[in-house]
Amino acid sequence: MPLVPMTAFLEDAKKNKYAVGQFNINNLEFTQAITEAAIEEKSPVIFGVSEGAMRYMGLDYTVAIAKAAAARAGVPVALHLDHGSSFDVVMKCIRAGFSSVMFDGSHHSFEENIRLTKQVVEAAHAVGVSVEGELGTIGGVEDDLAVDEEDATLAKPEEAIRFWEETKVDYVAIAVGTAHGMYKGEPKIRFDIIDEVARNIGAPIVLHGGSGVPDEAIKKAVSLGVGKINVNTENQVACTEVIRQVLAAKPNEIDPRKYLGPARDAIKEVVKGKMRLFGSSNRV
Ligand code: 13P
Repeated sequence: MPLVPMTAFLEDAKKNKYAVGQFNINNLEFTQAITEAAIEEKSPVIFGVSEGAMRYMGLDYTVAIAKAAAARAGVPVALHLDHGSSFDVVMKCIRAGFSSVMFDGSHHSFEENIRLTKQVVEAAHAVGVSVEGELGTIGGVEDDLAVDEEDATLAKPEEAIRFWEETKVDYVAIAVGTAHGMYKGEPKIRFDIIDEVARNIGAPIVLHGGSGVPDEAIKKAVSLGVGKINVNTENQVACTEVIRQVLAAKPNEIDPRKYLGPARDAIKEVVKGKMRLFGSSNRV
C-alpha cells in the first residue's frame, strides 16, 4: 500500500471510538519494529518524524524506508512530520513524499498561529496531505523542542475551537497536561478541556507525550475524543534497556545485529501493547 494521509483512517477511528498511535521513527530498526507491530495487530499506524530524526536519518532515507515499510505492511501507514517548525520545512517534507504534516505554531501568538497554520492547510490539502495543528504549549523535551514546566501553557477551549473553525486542520493537538518524555509523578490530565473541545470541533484531538500515561487515563481520553496518541520515549527506553542488557551480559559483542535485533523486538512489543490500549488493533 502507498503511504496514506491520516484522513484515511480518521472517520473509522471516530465512528468506532479508537485512537491511532503515532510512533516516532529514529532509524531502520524503529521503522521495522513499528511496521511489524502494525501488521501483527492489524492496525493503522502513523510514523512520526521529528526534525531532529529527519536530520539524523536524512530526508531521502526517511521517505524511502517509510515507503518500503508501507508497501510491505498491507495496513494504512501515514508518514507524518512531527512538530514542523516552519512553512518551509513542511513544504520540503511534502515535496519529498510525506503524506501528513504537523505544523507547530504554538510558540507564536494565537492570531499568528492561525494565520501560519491556514497557509500550511491550504498548501497541504491541495496535494492530499493531512495536517495537524497545535494549540497551547506541550511541556518537556523532544529533540530541538524544550519547554520548561512553567512555560507550558494549557490550551484554552474557546481558542482551540476557534483555531479549528478558522484553520480546518484535520487533527488538533491541544496541551492538556501531558509532556514529552517520562513523568516524575502522574501527569495531571485536564479531561475537562479535552471534553469541551471535542464536543465543539469536527476533528479528533491529538494527545502528545503519550509515554508513561496510565492506561486508564488513556482510555478516558480516547472515550472523550482523542483520536491520535503520540508515543516515542517508551520505545526509546525499551530499545536502550535491551541494548544495555545485551552488552552487560556480553561485553565483547561487536556485531550490531546482536543488540539491535533484540532491541527491535522490545520496541515491537511496546507498540503492540499501545495499539491494543488505543483500540486500533484489528481495525483493518
Ligand atoms: P513521548 O516521547 O513523551 O512519548 O511523546 C512523544 C510525542 O508527543 C511526539 O510528538
